[in-house]
Amino acid sequence: MRILVTGAGGQIGLALVPALQAQGHEVLATDIQPLAFSGPTQCLDVTNVPAVRALLESWRPDAVYHLAAFLSARSEKEPRAGWRLNFEAFWELLEACVTYGVKQVFWASSIAAFGPHTPRHHTPQYAPMDPIGLYGIAKLTAERLSEYFFLHYSLDVRSLRFPGVVGPGHLPQGGTTDFAVHMFYAAKKEKRYCCYLLPHTRLPMIYLSDAIRAILELMEAPAERLTVRSAYNIQGLSFSPAELVAHIQRRVPDFVCTYEPDFRQRLAESWPESLDDSYARREWGWQPHYDLPALVESMWQALEPLS
Ligand code: SER
Repeated sequence: MRILVTGAGGQIGLALVPALQAQGHEVLATDIQPLAFSGPTQCLDVTNVPAVRALLESWRPDAVYHLAAFLSARSEKEPRAGWRLNFEAFWELLEACVTYGVKQVFWASSIAAFGPHTPRHHTPQYAPMDPIGLYGIAKLTAERLSEYFFLHYSLDVRSLRFPGVVGPGHLPQGGTTDFAVHMFYAAKKEKRYCCYLLPHTRLPMIYLSDAIRAILELMEAPAERLTVRSAYNIQGLSFSPAELVAHIQRRVPDFVCTYEPDFRQRLAESWPESLDDSYARREWGWQPHYDLPALVESMWQALEPLS
C-alpha cells in the first residue's frame, strides 16, 4: 500500500513509520519539521489545506495515518491553534480523503476525550464523556466526525483512544502523561526528577511497541468485524508516578522524585484510571503484552547506552 503519515516526527510516528515500512508498505512520512527516515519524507503543515489536498492529489495514498496534533498541555496553552490542528485540520483531511479516494484512515483519539463524569475504573466503551480540556474536547468532536464520515461517506476510518504512551527514543512534549518517559531519562542521567502530577495520580498507559501493534492490528482487521467508528478503548497497564518511582528505585536506589503539581493535575484527575477494552478484544483481538515490570525492564534496557 501507499501510505501517508502525518505528524511522523512525534512519539508514535517515529516508531510507526519503520513498522509500516517493515510490512512492505511505501510510506511518505510528513511532519511540520524536517524528518530523517530511510524513505521519502516531506514537510507538511496539516492546517495548510491546499498543501494537504495537493499532496493527496499528487501522491495518491491508499491509506492515511494522521498523527499530527497538539497534546493536552499544549492545547491549553495555545487553544485556538490547538483547535485548528486537532479538529479543523482533521475535518479538512477527512474531506480530502473522500475526494481523492483514500481507502483507509487511521487517526489518534485519546483518553482525554473522557471527563469527570466518566466512570474512572474500567471505563466502558460507551460512557458519559464530558472532557474539561480543549484537547479532549477536540478529540471527542473528532470521534463524532469520524463516525459521521464512516456513515455518510463510507470512509473506512479507524481510531484508538490512546492512553499515555511510554517508550524509548523520544521525549514527548506537550502532554499530561509525558512524565513517565521523562522520569526514566531523569533517573538515568540526574537521579532526580520533579513530577508535575501528584504521586497517587493513576493513569492508563501503554508501552510504545504495544501501541504500534495495536494500530497495525486494528488497521488489518476485516472492516465487517468493526462496530466502533469513533475510537476504540484500549487498555495496556495503569500506574501512578509513585508506582513508577518505586520500580525505578529498584534499579537506582538513590533516585529521588519530588512533586510540584501544575495545571495538568486537574486534567489527569478528570481522565480514567483504567479502560474496559472488551470491544477491541472481541472485534480485532486486542491483547496487551507489557505490564509495569516488563515496561520498566524494556525501557531500562533501551536507556542503557545513556549510562
Ligand atoms: N498522552 C496524551 C496527553 O498526555 C493523552 O492522550 O496529552
